[in-house]
Amino acid sequence: MSVSGGAKTLAEVRGQAASCSRCSLFRLGTQTVFGEGPAPAALMLVGEQPGDQEDRQGRPFVGPAGRMLAKALAAAGIDRSQIYVTNAVKHFKNVPRGKRRIHQKPTAGEIDSCKWWLDLELKLVRPRIVVALGASAGRALLGRPVKIAKARGRPVAFGAERWLVVTIHPSLLLRIEGAGKKAEALERFIEELRIAKKLTSGRSRPLGRMASSSTSARNAP
Ligand code: URA
Repeated sequence: MSVSGGAKTLAEVRGQAASCSRCSLFRLGTQTVFGEGPAPAALMLVGEQPGDQEDRQGRPFVGPAGRMLAKALAAAGIDRSQIYVTNAVKHFKNVPRGKRRIHQKPTAGEIDSCKWWLDLELKLVRPRIVVALGASAGRALLGRPVKIAKARGRPVAFGAERWLVVTIHPSLLLRIEGAGKKAEALERFIEELRIAKKLTSGRSRPLGRMASSSTSARNAP
């Protein structure tokens, strides 16, 4: 399969993405942070963009949000080494403030420019289940704004062979104050990861179109 300028494998596409200048964000980050994990993989998680740690290390979800994600994945019984983890945007968008670099939300235009790489990852990883972690990932995957509170935890058909599960971004959990509220929000996030995990072993097929959430909830195994 030739997918991009003759590239056949994820390693080749990753190599091409290293010199990406499809939008101006490459000027802000240290490096392209491409996805990682096996291909094929039944489950793909899509975050927003690399943060400070990810930008330095060149790997997705290795900073504070990554540690929160690791905790939730472990509780949901998902082995990170068996899944593919990536971001909607592959460069760290930030503004310097003193010695720190402050995260900036990517625009819809930046998300759409970077969709080129996400589409190639989807093509080569061929996940049956895709999890959108937060609104930027939802926007990237669906091509339109998504209301997380409304869409979360309800699997929807995403093409003929694939389910999409929308949930929160794990960094949200870092900002919740109060142990009780935090624990409750974490438990709900874990439950939504469990829903995604369960779908990886299910045999039911999506309808081949973007179903409404109530229909899809019925169709999901
Ligand atoms: N937040 C993300 O969305 N992705 C990362 O890789 C790290 C933090």
